[in-house]
Amino acid sequence: MWGGRFAAGPDAIMEAINASIGYDQRMAAQDIAGSRAHAAMLAATGIITDNDAEVIREGLLTVLSEIDSGTFEFSTALEDIHMNVEARLKQLVGEPAGRLHTARSRNDQVATDFKLWVRDQIDAAVEGIEALIKALIGQAEAGYDWVMPGFTHLQTAQPVTWGHHMMAYVEMFGRDLSRFRDARKRMNECPLGSAALAGTSFPIDRHMTAAALGFDRPTANSLDGVADRDFALEFLSCASLTAMHLSRFAEELVIWSSAQFRFVTMSDKWSTGSSIMPQKRNPDAAELLRAKIGRIFGANVALMTVMKGLPLAYSKDMQEDKEQVFDAADNLMLALAAMTGMVGDMTGNKEALAAAAGSGFSTATDLADWLVRELNMPFRDAHHVTGSLVALAESKGCDLPDLTLEDMKSVHEAITDAVFGVLGVDNSVASRMSYGGTAPAQVLVQIERWKKVLE
Ligand code: ARG
Repeated sequence: MWGGRFAAGPDAIMEAINASIGYDQRMAAQDIAGSRAHAAMLAATGIITDNDAEVIREGLLTVLSEIDSGTFEFSTALEDIHMNVEARLKQLVGEPAGRLHTARSRNDQVATDFKLWVRDQIDAAVEGIEALIKALIGQAEAGYDWVMPGFTHLQTAQPVTWGHHMMAYVEMFGRDLSRFRDARKRMNECPLGSAALAGTSFPIDRHMTAAALGFDRPTANSLDGVADRDFALEFLSCASLTAMHLSRFAEELVIWSSAQFRFVTMSDKWSTGSSIMPQKRNPDAAELLRAKIGRIFGANVALMTVMKGLPLAYSKDMQEDKEQVFDAADNLMLALAAMTGMVGDMTGNKEALAAAAGSGFSTATDLADWLVRELNMPFRDAHHVTGSLVALAESKGCDLPDLTLEDMKSVHEAITDAVFGVLGVDNSVASRMSYGGTAPAQVLVQIERWKKVLE
């Protein structure tokens, strides 16, 4: 491509470090779409003839079908997808192929291809998250009033509902969804026509190519157009946050499916056995999902580090952007699909959840609130009295509802047997009617709201 200035070819090691074709061939469809838009624009503006544009267009379609059918021979010597496609086009159509690169550089070409690729992944992520949210809502509806322990510090805190816990993740993944959508809006500007860095002296129409490729507008500064990869980093940031949420739920599923918790039964489809211990049902999918998240965080840090301190405009360092994003995107989509499958197929164990909800003095706060409400006690005093009652129950080896009225009165005279009305877990959750609270009625309100949002 640049033989005119060079007397010798590259060293073999140079070729190895320089080539990106091993991975950037994943952008073949985007590269060809970009070239088709560019060729059509060159003809429309009179920079090349209509005939050349037509020959180029047909040649590019042939190249694409060769790549799709696996007959295309990629060459490392041709470095990347852009030069592989162009060289093959030359073989196929001859001289007009050489006119395609008018008013274009690989710098704006690669930025455009990569943006198109990342944009597709944003759309895939949005679809994947929506499917997961629907699966979570399905679980929430099935058990909107099932009681379970709510935890802080992984210690029993207060009873909550299964539906409420599921809907907590719906809120988190809902924000992830809106982050991806925001990122898409911001990144949807077309770099094509920025050329190497300064724009071009040819009378190109950048609005035409931008529209043809589904962008909202062309980028407004040619240096920025070829120099930045913040769109890829924003994708990785959104992916990292989603991945972080996925890993928390994966961790809960690992804990919940243990024999000690038995909160959920994971379906056989998402479990594995042990080659030596016949009783085992291991939550491998949840564990792998929890682990894969590290690769996504890693990609984010890696690309941040590649980009930091790079002077404008393009530097070859930026070729290192793609593998990170490809790997992160692959693993994000896999993780989303696996989580959606697991959530859809898992069974919450209503009885085990209820039994756990009642243990660990989970209604102690309800008792303290009752003392405040009924005996007009300051909350701090009520907290102290309740603490003493918990200690008493603990010493007797029972739970709070199992204490007798005499036990209660031995700690505080004025307690009446009305107190027993607030010690049950169903009462406890039903009473938490504050907006966004865990009461089944509140959970149903949020389920309905989300169903409307997703319509
Ligand atoms: N393979 C390169 C990349 O992925 C394409 C752009 C090359 N541009 C250049 N000026 N060498 O970044």
